Amino acid sequence: MSVSPRPIGVFDSGVGGLSVLRHIRTVLPGEDLLYVADSAHAPYGMKSVAFIEARALAISSFLVAQDAKALVVACNTATAAAIVGLRARFDLPVIGMEPAVKPAVDATRSGVIGVLATGGTLESARFAELVQRFGSQARVVVQPCPGLVEQVEAGDLSGPATRALLSAFVAPLLAQGADTLVLGCTHYPFLQPLLRELVGEQVALIETGAAVARQLSRRIAETDFQPVRSAGTEKFFSSGERQHLEALLPQLWGHAAPVKCLTGG
Ligand code: DGL
Repeated sequence: MSVSPRPIGVFDSGVGGLSVLRHIRTVLPGEDLLYVADSAHAPYGMKSVAFIEARALAISSFLVAQDAKALVVACNTATAAAIVGLRARFDLPVIGMEPAVKPAVDATRSGVIGVLATGGTLESARFAELVQRFGSQARVVVQPCPGLVEQVEAGDLSGPATRALLSAFVAPLLAQGADTLVLGCTHYPFLQPLLRELVGEQVALIETGAAVARQLSRRIAETDFQPVRSAGTEKFFSSGERQHLEALLPQLWGHAAPVKCLTGG
């Protein structure tokens, strides 16, 4: 197994991918991580596939130019739009995210699962395929959540406006008998405490970050694993106002860190 100081590149439309980065840091404490928030273009939610593909390609090219040994598309929407193209373009492991329909289908007792995600994810061919594969075992009720990503981007994880939005999105799912909710957007795990308060203890909440971190770990173990020597480092980049991400890092990442402007992306 070779020892390599090359970093892992992770990106999202904004701060949502930090929920995935946290899992990656737990599973891979010795790896150096690069994180790009495409905040100048968030939310991706209902942007065109061509636009998201172009952004994913530009950001991935930036990360590869930083010598990334693997890419994590820490965004369900960008995965749905762009992962096929990224895998064709870059000769390195490219890990994506998709709503956890299969684990939810396995977990439900009522036979109804609810999927919270962006319109872009829910309308994608990849999602349709996922439902086709596993949806025969349970009823899959979907709920696009316009406005929710913006609340997380604003750092409002529990205020009245966020509460009102989330509660309106969840109510129809519960009314249709869902006992298992899939958090199909990487911004939503940050709303988990509020969501738990709204739905109570009986409803299962399922997200994909931990599974993606384990998958990444398996993939790089095949090639470029960084044994734990000391703590790995993190570098943060933003295509938007770097102060915006700097202000949110203590809340969403756990501590402050400097943010650089994304150049060439
Ligand atoms: N965090 C993203 C996702 O997982 C994208 C949200 C957005 O930008 O609309 O889908």
